[in-house]
Amino acid sequence: MPRITITRPDDWHIHLRDGDVLDRTVNDVALWAHRAVVMPNLTPPVKTAAEATQYHTRIMAALADNKRFEPLMTLYLTDATTPQDIKEASDSELICGVKLYPAGATTNSAAGVTGLETLKPTLAAMQECDLPLLIHGEVTDPDVDIFDREAKFIERTLGPLVEEFPTLRIILEHITTQDSVDFVSESRAGVAATITPQHLLFDRNDMLVGGIRPHLFCLPILKRRQHKEALRSAATSGNPKFFIGTDSAPHTVETKESACGCAGCYSAHAAIPLYAEVFEEEGCLDKLEAFTSHFGADFYRKARNEDTLDLVRQDNLAPDYLTFGSSSVIPLRAGESLRWRLEPSQ
Ligand code: NCD
Ligand code: ZN
Repeated sequence: MPRITITRPDDWHIHLRDGDVLDRTVNDVALWAHRAVVMPNLTPPVKTAAEATQYHTRIMAALADNKRFEPLMTLYLTDATTPQDIKEASDSELICGVKLYPAGATTNSAAGVTGLETLKPTLAAMQECDLPLLIHGEVTDPDVDIFDREAKFIERTLGPLVEEFPTLRIILEHITTQDSVDFVSESRAGVAATITPQHLLFDRNDMLVGGIRPHLFCLPILKRRQHKEALRSAATSGNPKFFIGTDSAPHTVETKESACGCAGCYSAHAAIPLYAEVFEEEGCLDKLEAFTSHFGADFYRKARNEDTLDLVRQDNLAPDYLTFGSSSVIPLRAGESLRWRLEPSQ
């Protein structure tokens, strides 16, 4: 059976949630990632270094004894975040960045930012402390079509921001469009993007033709095929500005299969096999390791992992569902075939 060995990956964007589901989320990702950047969109959000430290403790308490895993914490930027909050975050060894959600853009973003004008001193402090800014890049203007919200964000907000703070490190998270690929490729150093497995594997036809598939609904929403192709080219190009960030974002089956379903796909059970499938289809398996295990660490100025992960090319079935607290979560590819599987470490 064909086998590949890669440097152990990291996940530069994940939602672990809180409480009794941490057991699921933390141990699924710890099977394959050494580090993961943990999103702060809890209810209420993680807004201070002290709250991030407490959340870190809860995550570590959920980790099984035989696993090694390092959560990299983030703060949730609000209109009230001060330069002092940034200084405290930057002094914390546990915090690796600050997340900007435009208010109302996605799950649990009600406390997000309503405008950047008043936050300029806070952004200046981030630039000064060299603390990265992670961005959910969508406008929330009701007049803008949901499929155009990422492109409009680049035009209205991101372009000016990149210029006004010329040394601020910025990650445009979970990009979904050719526009974002072009913008990040052409931007100055210090601007990068993460790409999810679902945006490499699926387009909006997969979500909508022949019936609505709520488990493929995530934000930013899946776009038309030409955008998926642009993302596949970027991910497999070997350009270090594009790296892994699964955006694994679990919701219970009840909240997904609903008249007003939540946004988010769960991929932590099989993220690396799913990425491997894409890289294999593109004829670029040799580029997988840099995408999953090198470029993100380099951007965040962390050491690359020293241990490895083995992948075997053997068809296997993804589970129909996974236990998720007192409910369940339907993972990506549920009940369907995966082409690769992780080889458990000896
Ligand atoms: C995420 C979630 O559920 O927290 N949902 C999603 O569709 N990606 C939030 C986010 O990253 O936008
Ligand atoms: Zn996310």
